[in-house]
Amino acid sequence: MCGIVGAVLTQGSVLEGLIEGLRVLEYRGYDSAGVALGLEGGVAIRRRAGRIEKLEAALGESPPADSQIGIGHTRWATHGPPTDANAHPHTDGGERLALVHNGIIENHGELRAELEAEGVAFKSDTDTEALAHLLGRELDNGAPTLAEAMRRALSRVHGYYAVAAMRFGEQRELVCARQGPPICVGVTPEGAFLGSDVLALIPHTREIVFLDDGDVCELAPGHLRVTRLDGTEVERASQHVSWEEADAGKGVYPHYMLKEIHEQPDVLARTAFSRIDEERGDVLLGHEELGDGGWSDALLRDVSRVQVAACGTALHAGYIARYLIEGLARVPVDADYASEFRYRDPVLMPDTLALAISQSGETADTLAAQRLAREKGCTPAAICNVAGSTLVRESDAVVLTNAGPEIGVASTKAFVAQVIAAYLLAVRMGRARGVIDQARGLELVRDLRLLRPSLERLLSEEHVSEIQAVAARHVEAKGFLFLGRGINYPVALEGALKLKEISYMHAEGYPAGEMKHGPIALIEPGMSTVVVNSRGGVADKVRSNVEQVRARGGQVICVGSDPESLDLADEAIVVPESSEWLSPVLNVIPLQLLSYEIARLRGCDIDKPRNLAKSVTVE
Ligand code: F6R
Repeated sequence: MCGIVGAVLTQGSVLEGLIEGLRVLEYRGYDSAGVALGLEGGVAIRRRAGRIEKLEAALGESPPADSQIGIGHTRWATHGPPTDANAHPHTDGGERLALVHNGIIENHGELRAELEAEGVAFKSDTDTEALAHLLGRELDNGAPTLAEAMRRALSRVHGYYAVAAMRFGEQRELVCARQGPPICVGVTPEGAFLGSDVLALIPHTREIVFLDDGDVCELAPGHLRVTRLDGTEVERASQHVSWEEADAGKGVYPHYMLKEIHEQPDVLARTAFSRIDEERGDVLLGHEELGDGGWSDALLRDVSRVQVAACGTALHAGYIARYLIEGLARVPVDADYASEFRYRDPVLMPDTLALAISQSGETADTLAAQRLAREKGCTPAAICNVAGSTLVRESDAVVLTNAGPEIGVASTKAFVAQVIAAYLLAVRMGRARGVIDQARGLELVRDLRLLRPSLERLLSEEHVSEIQAVAARHVEAKGFLFLGRGINYPVALEGALKLKEISYMHAEGYPAGEMKHGPIALIEPGMSTVVVNSRGGVADKVRSNVEQVRARGGQVICVGSDPESLDLADEAIVVPESSEWLSPVLNVIPLQLLSYEIARLRGCDIDKPRNLAKSVTVE
């Protein structure tokens, strides 16, 4: 969950590029930041607890000399609090090398005791420092290169890591390695670059090599060499990444979250429109970067059930996928938290499609759930936003969501893209199995096209100011209850998650039918209830929830297209009508905006909510 950058250049100064890279990666962790620059006579290290601005101030106070080799880090603390001393990079005792790390070294206690017994003095509480000293010890023991020291040192390490290390002084070397969290590399004639995320590399090159677990990579301008831990050299092909540099900026918006909310009509187009086959009333699940994506008719026909595993917002999209795939393709679906699924020794049949849903494709629990399902003979499949991610590489069939980079920590456009991808999968599955005929298929794909103007309407200035007014009236609420039923029940869960993540207000999402089994006790004046209700099979049931909450003095904000519920509620946020299957895509927009506006009024740090980081690559 930390961000890593590194570079070695033929000439010029590496510092500005490292800081730019850290800024782009700050969304992955923002407790502290640091850089190490290799100089002829040694190293310049600057590191500070707090945001990158603190690091920049430290660099301003004591500017280092120009350097062509360096590494940098933005931290999300796991071992030791966020202090200057615990900030990365860390060095070995002999001060020959510096190291940055994302992940957890599980046997760091044992390694630390062993090194201390040999006289090594530790300067931080981190697990990372043990690896820096191990590297130093391997150099003392005659490892001829930093890469060889890395291979030897990592064979002693248990855990999950992406690391980058730099040797300074006469022998300049830059090395990175991976076991778990991602790291990718790219070269140009002018330099070699590494990063924990492609976003840090695209200003330099679009031809990116994603390292595999167990790889160690040596970098020099124009040159990469990848070996396994036993020293065997391996070839790793590069992949072309089509993301634009501008995708990583905020544009005209004050926050990434708002920018990403406003991108959603384009995300719909990118995820769905080029895949629609109106002639056959069908969709194509493939992608230019992945061919047909592995979705053969045989696979879709022979599957007898689907098991979804995901975390957080992606699981909410997974719950919607359950309604879509069961409802449209008539295939039974189960959906579970990846963190629960992986430890409950699940009973899985081999003809199950194990569908992992993830924006990043690097979430530790989701990957573990997927690996478990593969071991049990299921076909691993994914809905994912990152083409080169571990999840994509480990899945037999993939729908890429094409949402572009999501940088706001609170997921918005990725959720909408995941729901649309699940809809495409349900339609394709139904067509392949003969459950959906051509005429019905045509209706279903046309419904997708109708969403775009509705999304645009929901994001219009008029609508946004309506939501700002609602936010202002509820910013002091004691708490929020979000209710929804059927395919909009997961939307209620998502509304509550968004609000608590970025505004720190207490919010709970519930299936509306469960209200009288407990949460109704919470209803009183000052408690706000958001009821999501669109026209469809369960609209009249949800309507009675609106009445019950109001009868107990609760304030109801109704979001949706069901006219009677909107009339009954204290406040109405009208959402354009759509097919019921696609109503979550529209209903979630006001909820995203409501959380954003409430968080803004409360003065919260919207793009970097406390304690959170994007992409949870550790357990
Ligand atoms: C919520 C949020 C998280 C992620 C979750 C899974 O706004 O962003 O709940 O949805 O950590 O992440 P991915 O989708 O990358 O697997």
